[in-house]
Amino acid sequence: MGRFERERAFLKTDFEMLKGVKTGAASGVPQPEAEKPAEEGQLLITLPKPSKDVVTKANVFDCIGDRESVRKYTDEALTLEELSYLLWSTQGVRKITDAGRIMRTVPSAGGTNTFETYIFVRKVNGLAQGIYRYQPFEHRLVFLKEVEDIAALIDEMTMAERQPFVPYFAGKASVIFAWSTVPYRAEWKFDVQAHKKILIDVGHVCQNLYLAGESLNAGVCAIGIYNQNLMDQLLDLDGDEEMVIYLASAGRKAE
Ligand SMILES: Cc1cc2nc3c(=O)[nH]c(=O)nc-3n(C[C@H](O)[C@H](O)[C@H](O)COP(=O)(O)O)c2cc1C
Repeated sequence: MGRFERERAFLKTDFEMLKGVKTGAASGVPQPEAEKPAEEGQLLITLPKPSKDVVTKANVFDCIGDRESVRKYTDEALTLEELSYLLWSTQGVRKITDAGRIMRTVPSAGGTNTFETYIFVRKVNGLAQGIYRYQPFEHRLVFLKEVEDIAALIDEMTMAERQPFVPYFAGKASVIFAWSTVPYRAEWKFDVQAHKKILIDVGHVCQNLYLAGESLNAGVCAIGIYNQNLMDQLLDLDGDEEMVIYLASAGRKAE
């Protein structure tokens, strides 16, 4: 039992731990940037404006009631409009208040939103197979790299042979979402109380992907089984200031 203790403590909220701690925010350290900038020379792809037109099931009651993890996909591509809607649903910026608060389509503790969204595109109309990063403020993609056999890479990333329900399912999806966290974006405000909140926040993000997917008749599956080192290495993340924490697949549902 002993070895669970530290991990269980992590599940609790303990603001007493912050007594005497001067957070970055309280010390006047500038707030970390909410989005990684594009680098000079990177290809930028402006996404179509998120539109209701892609929705085929608009009833929230039905979307919640029918949501399930879908691991069987047809080979039909998702459209760029559908991808745009899924990205907006998971991290889209709704508005920035006069006080500078960034309001998104998902809740986040203290509005800290520590995530970056990377997508591994296998089959989306109008996009080359490869790896992209989403920039929610501009609602655009930054093209990071082309991948020749992306299905094989996705299978390797998601440890396909060890997937407990349907081995090798993720490589058949149209797109894989990979969420990283930049922990300091929350540590700046919550210090040692940040990390539990980050994991709660990412659950909201993935649930919105499930529900938005359901409204398109696209199937989604959360993926917690993945190769951490490989993911961080593929995305050039140092695994400390930024690391991948969660994946999800999306594709047209096979009946
Ligand atoms: C944090 C998390 C990690 C998950 N990881 C995987 C995974 O690696 N592979 C998989 O096939 N399903 C995964 N799932 C999906 C669960 O297996 C699924 O939600 C559960 O069996 C209940 O089924 P339902 O989503 O259809 O209601 C994950 C779900 C969550 C919330």
